[in-house]
Amino acid sequence: MTAEVPPPGEYAIDPARSAIAFSAKHMFGLGTVRGGFRLRSGTISVAEAPADSHVQAVADAASFASGNAARDRKVRSKTFLDTDGHPDIGFTSTSAEVDADGVWRLHGLLTARGVQAPVVFTVTEAETLGDELSLAATATVDRHAHGITALNGMAGRHVHIDAAIRARRIPAGPPSGRPAQQGEHHMSDLKIAVILGSTRPGRNGKGVADWVVDRAGARTGAEYELVDLADYPLPHLDEAAPPSMGQYQGEHTKTWAAKIAEFDGYIFVTPEYNHSTSGVLKNAIDYLYGEWNNKAAAFVSYGALGGARAIEHLRAIASELQLAHVRQQLSFSLFTDFENYSVFKPAGLHDDAAVVLFEQLESWARALKTVRA
Ligand SMILES: Cc1cc2nc3c(=O)[nH]c(=O)nc-3n(C[C@H](O)[C@H](O)[C@H](O)COP(=O)(O)O)c2cc1C
Repeated sequence: MTAEVPPPGEYAIDPARSAIAFSAKHMFGLGTVRGGFRLRSGTISVAEAPADSHVQAVADAASFASGNAARDRKVRSKTFLDTDGHPDIGFTSTSAEVDADGVWRLHGLLTARGVQAPVVFTVTEAETLGDELSLAATATVDRHAHGITALNGMAGRHVHIDAAIRARRIPAGPPSGRPAQQGEHHMSDLKIAVILGSTRPGRNGKGVADWVVDRAGARTGAEYELVDLADYPLPHLDEAAPPSMGQYQGEHTKTWAAKIAEFDGYIFVTPEYNHSTSGVLKNAIDYLYGEWNNKAAAFVSYGALGGARAIEHLRAIASELQLAHVRQQLSFSLFTDFENYSVFKPAGLHDDAAVVLFEQLESWARALKTVRA
């Protein structure tokens, strides 16, 4: 079935008028269990070039209901969804395509029970009603891919999902389909800095950091901003008191501290110099203390061998600063992700990895806000 292409724009999903239904085979395939989840929130960005469109949605895992209270308790328990530990079920698209028959497919990542796995939604209906979109989409989810393997034989492995979505156009905001530019306003209250950790003339780091900001631009979960250390020139640490005392004297320190204090999370983009991070980034980190505490961080490295050793050192540094660092990292090789070792052309496999990094970082950055509150 083909679906109408909606007009370009940003649309906010209306959870009250949307529904996620599921069905799964039960008891050796002898019956079908049906039920649903409630959506919490979501956005649909319809781009001028349809393939650049993006969808993101979060469902309330504990809203699982199948009409049988005992079964619902079991599905919410640690055996299945573990909804206390993992209250959200999330979807974020990584690419969109229209096939030769005009059928829309959204490729993306589904997070259930804290585990991400690829999923493909086929859009079966799309209708524009004034400022609103009405969409229907289906997908098949393999619960084993999310580590949910309990009751094999008793409960089916594959779960069929039917999403019926109503979304309303958001009047303001950046035009959809292209990454938001620096300074443009997102809807999120979460701010993440992409810290460019090299200042060398002719540095490769600029291409890498720009790519990260560009990939992050289409996201609605956080507002991302490039913070280039070249714009914050700091001498070798020249503060008399330890940064943990917060008695900053120098104007350069106060400017740097005020900038870092703006953010809930950081992506450190680091080169590998002599099996570690750059001196300029280490120095900039050492200048501050409280501004880093109880926030979240992720790392992106590059180097002849990908720069993983620089990230390992940064993880130790971040731990000392009470800066919670997520597992997912990106490492780019000068040999395979750059042309002539200088023009950044990352291999395609990094696209999906970047989405995982953004998801992990945003969720920890959001959670840690409550620690600082
Ligand atoms: C001082 C210095 C030391 C380096 N040491 C390493 C290293 O230990 N391992 C590695 O894989 N690459 C190493 N490289 C290569 C860099 O990772 C690569 O040149 C990268 O582009 C540097 O980042 P930048 O261009 O943003 O300054 C080194 C480069 C420099 C300038």
